[in-house]
Amino acid sequence: TDKKDMVLCSPICCILGHVETGKTKLLDCIRGTDVQGGEAGGITQQIGATYFPVEKIREATKELKADAALHVPGLLVIDTPGHESFSNLRSRGSSLCDIAILVVDIMHGIQSQTIESLKLLKKHRIDLIVALNKVDRLFSWKNCPNAPIKKALKQQTEDVKREFDARLTDIVTQFKIQGINTVLYYQSKKVDDTFKNIVPTCAISGEGIPDLLLLSVQWAQKKMKERLTFCEKVECTVLDVKLTEGHGTTIDVVLANGVLHEGDKIVISGMQGPIETHIRALLTPHPMRELRIKGFWRRTLFKTMNNEQGQDMIRRSVKILLIKLIIPCN
Ligand code: GTP
Ligand code: MG
Repeated sequence: TDKKDMVLCSPICCILGHVETGKTKLLDCIRGTDVQGGEAGGITQQIGATYFPVEKIREATKELKADAALHVPGLLVIDTPGHESFSNLRSRGSSLCDIAILVVDIMHGIQSQTIESLKLLKKHRIDLIVALNKVDRLFSWKNCPNAPIKKALKQQTEDVKREFDARLTDIVTQFKIQGINTVLYYQSKKVDDTFKNIVPTCAISGEGIPDLLLLSVQWAQKKMKERLTFCEKVECTVLDVKLTEGHGTTIDVVLANGVLHEGDKIVISGMQGPIETHIRALLTPHPMRELRIKGFWRRTLFKTMNNEQGQDMIRRSVKILLIKLIIPCN
């Protein structure tokens, strides 16, 4: 086959978990932003999305020395709300992803929306990694900013390590009750592939973040060669429809596969039935920026490609998966 066809797409990773486990904060930590602090009541009420280019992932994971092991252009991460009333958004997020990070608070273990998320992932047959977040809440944890988790754990006193081990063992048992085998990720060589990896993290000082990023990408690469290989059939999911200042009606979508062109005729399901329209323009966001942040969408900066008619077009195999479609108002 043509070498170009072998290029892998960026995996789409969905973050799921019970309310307040630190899903948004984990993304803030990777981006170096404070989206969580700007949320009403500090809870997520919409789907968010951020594209992490592979260069950024390489930089964040350099202590783990895995440079050569990254073969995708980047990682698209979808943030979902954990509050029980938003199960529709969790369902949408989990239906469009290639892999999921299930965030569990180390102090609370498995909670109701953890179980709901597990059911969704099982239904959509999505593989998962567990982020065991808030390790800094262990009594007298010593911060080691942005350190790989093994290194950070080594710096802790025997008491902290004991509390960590006890809580980890307990949570592994809770997962087992849900029918899922889990293992601390750097011990996973001792077990078979059916075990889900656990990565301990802290979203405040960044311990374990390099591990989480690297594992997400490597896991997706290893398990999903076929899924991440580009194909022409359009697969596109709507995240949000809104009026955007200066643009009119816009639709935020994730392009999971295929190519979109300016002028393409599209059909969207509306409250009163199908809406037939066409794409007036395509916009893509800044990498490392949240979809929900205003003003970070642009047209020219990104290399959208041109076809013979000179229309803008975007295909997934390029680094771009998050797209804003501008459609005519009616
Ligand atoms: P929802 O989107 O509403 O489901 O919540 P979330 O999972 O996105 O949690 P969020 O990131 O909003 O964090 C909830 C609270 O926990 C905030 O006050 C965070 O500052 C705090 N928090 C998140 N991660 C950590 C962590 O690793 N350690 C500590 N100590 N606090 C954390
Ligand atoms: Mg959140």
